[in-house]
Amino acid sequence: MTGAVVNNSAPLLEIDDLKVTFPVSHGIFGKRQFVAVRDVSFDVGEGETFGLVGESGSGKTTVGRAILRLVPMAAGNIRFDGTDMASFGRDTPLHYRRDVQVVFQDPRSSLNPRHRVSQILGQVVARHRHVAGRERDAIVTELLDSVQLSSFYAGRYPGELSGGQRQRVAIAHALATQPRLVICDEAVSALDVSTQSQILNLLEDLRGRFKLSYLFISHDLAVVRHLSQRIAVMYLGRVVETGPAESVYRNPQHPYTQMLLASVLDPDPAHKSVRRAQRRKIADRAEAPRDPAGLQGCPFQTRCHAVMDICRNEMPAHRARPEDGLLACHLVSPAPILNRTSEGVQ
Ligand SMILES: Nc1ncnc2c1ncn2[C@@H]1O[C@H](COP(=O)(O)OP(=O)(O)OP(=O)(O)O)[C@@H](O)[C@H]1O
Ligand SMILES: [Mg+2]
Repeated sequence: MTGAVVNNSAPLLEIDDLKVTFPVSHGIFGKRQFVAVRDVSFDVGEGETFGLVGESGSGKTTVGRAILRLVPMAAGNIRFDGTDMASFGRDTPLHYRRDVQVVFQDPRSSLNPRHRVSQILGQVVARHRHVAGRERDAIVTELLDSVQLSSFYAGRYPGELSGGQRQRVAIAHALATQPRLVICDEAVSALDVSTQSQILNLLEDLRGRFKLSYLFISHDLAVVRHLSQRIAVMYLGRVVETGPAESVYRNPQHPYTQMLLASVLDPDPAHKSVRRAQRRKIADRAEAPRDPAGLQGCPFQTRCHAVMDICRNEMPAHRARPEDGLLACHLVSPAPILNRTSEGVQ
């Protein structure tokens, strides 16, 4: 097992050694499998916000799509509320589609532009809650109210709304099935900073009110920081560091996490000099290889400021992170690899 973190609340979603591959053409007639995600393990507790961060192409969306069953798993397993997804068969059961919802960066792709907001929300309410007429309309008004939109917006088309209002409708759309887990994939990334913070506050408010869990996916570390209890940092399809958000941000261990954090503007003057020193030390020396297939050893070796011989030969296993969580880096003094059964880790 790799990558899981101790968590006090009961896990709602458990991911073990997830691997996702995509066929890509190779040579004139050949095809090979591009490994987009591998050895990914983490769990999301009931009522928890779990952040998934990493640069573009690190595999965050692919993990989300595997949970939603939009891409097949090449290996590993995913359990939701104790039930293994492998037991679902080909069609995703309705209860799972109800329990697990998603909010994307651009709601224009999920909200039908030819339908009014009332129709967009009304359809989901009718399908999942088996109500019609006034009862359905009352629920639509309630949903709009929960995302702080007045019933005036029921008669609008998505194209008539601002980016923030559209994202509120997308959130109401997700809430319409009364989900337990909402995957927020770059849900605020397209919004300006003040709208971002309003939507983040709204999401936090909704989490408490509706007892939601979030898998919060973003390339923006500042956004993830304020919402998440725990985070996983991904690099080229692999989780390189996981742990409590506060601990990872305060004391990043993996050179990649350090590099990511050093590039984030920190408004706290007390941290300024530390960040500046880190930035000097952690020069980002190269571009990430898009496909680590031909690379032996650690995928981060081409960019790491502290690369050693072993990094070029051996893939670092997930080991206990000094404070809490797990880490995949040869720099950390060898510690026993966590064993799920003997250590009692969730
Ligand atoms: N359908 C697909 N076919 C082939 N390759 C794919 C497919 N979907 C994703 N990939 C590749 O898998 C890798 C991971 O992509 P993914 O979209 O999961 O990254 P991401 O971390 O969400 O990036 P971003 O921050 O840009 O959204 C990328 O190299 C991407 O090109
Ligand atoms: Mg993505």
